[in-house]
Amino acid sequence: MKKRFWSLLLLAAALALLAGCRGGESSGVSDSAGGAGVSSQGASAAQPTAAPTPSPTPEAETDPYAAAAGYREENAERYADYAAQNPGLAAQQVVSYVNIGLDRPFYTEVETIADPDNLLVLCNKYHQLPDGYEPADLVQISSQYSNGGKTLYLRAEAAAAFERLCAGAAAEGYTILGQSGYRSYAYQDQIYNNYVARDGQAAADTYSARPGFSEHQTGLAMDICNGALSYTDFGQTAEYAWAKEHLAEYGFVLHYLPGTEQITGYMTEEWHIRYVGTETAAEIARLGITLDEYCASYLN
Ligand code: DAL
Ligand code: ZN
Repeated sequence: MKKRFWSLLLLAAALALLAGCRGGESSGVSDSAGGAGVSSQGASAAQPTAAPTPSPTPEAETDPYAAAAGYREENAERYADYAAQNPGLAAQQVVSYVNIGLDRPFYTEVETIADPDNLLVLCNKYHQLPDGYEPADLVQISSQYSNGGKTLYLRAEAAAAFERLCAGAAAEGYTILGQSGYRSYAYQDQIYNNYVARDGQAAADTYSARPGFSEHQTGLAMDICNGALSYTDFGQTAEYAWAKEHLAEYGFVLHYLPGTEQITGYMTEEWHIRYVGTETAAEIARLGITLDEYCASYLN
């Protein structure tokens, strides 16, 4: 009887021990190993997804131009090449200049402008107007605002803005007059070829657009003067100082400003203004860039 008692006691103790171990194991699995499993899995899964959020993506790390306005992935290699050839340029300049096409010679890989009637059309040495283009809404400028009463035309919206500009200047005691407005392809062909005959093509290309490439053919550009000096001396007039301050209020920008020769491909023309509308003119003035850079990097 005693032996049986001890046997039963031993059995009970063994069972209790076994149950205790199982309970420990199972609680260990769920609370520690299981918990650790979830959390370590969570940690290892979270690490790669959580880490890139604050740090740059691999693309941004390898391409310093990705954050610049107007960045185009397809130009990535050209940005790198252009920056290597032109050290010292800011990333934004590299992106804008390559977008314009400045890593290629002027008048190469020329595109025909698809929407020449758009008020924000960019007509430069990489973008030409379609064959035979002539704006449909040309209107004559009041002879009051043209030098010597010349017959000058601009597109309707630009013409109205130009007359407001001249009137606004006059109201403050300044004289702004039109010298050359819309020019047809045929007329630009004539004047460009006269310059080529006189100075040679390389020189002519620095101050005169080839036919089809002149902003004057868009009907949105005007050369201005003060009626006393030649238009080519406009930069020395009080009217120029006034114009620089006020052109944007009337929707115009100076397209060929000093220091932008390498961007536009033309020498400085303080007399050449271009209508873009007041909103865009203000934005271009705020950014302090050329119309070419604006169109290449800031316009969709
Ligand atoms: N002089 C400007 C660039 C033109 O010919 O259109
Ligand atoms: Zn001009």
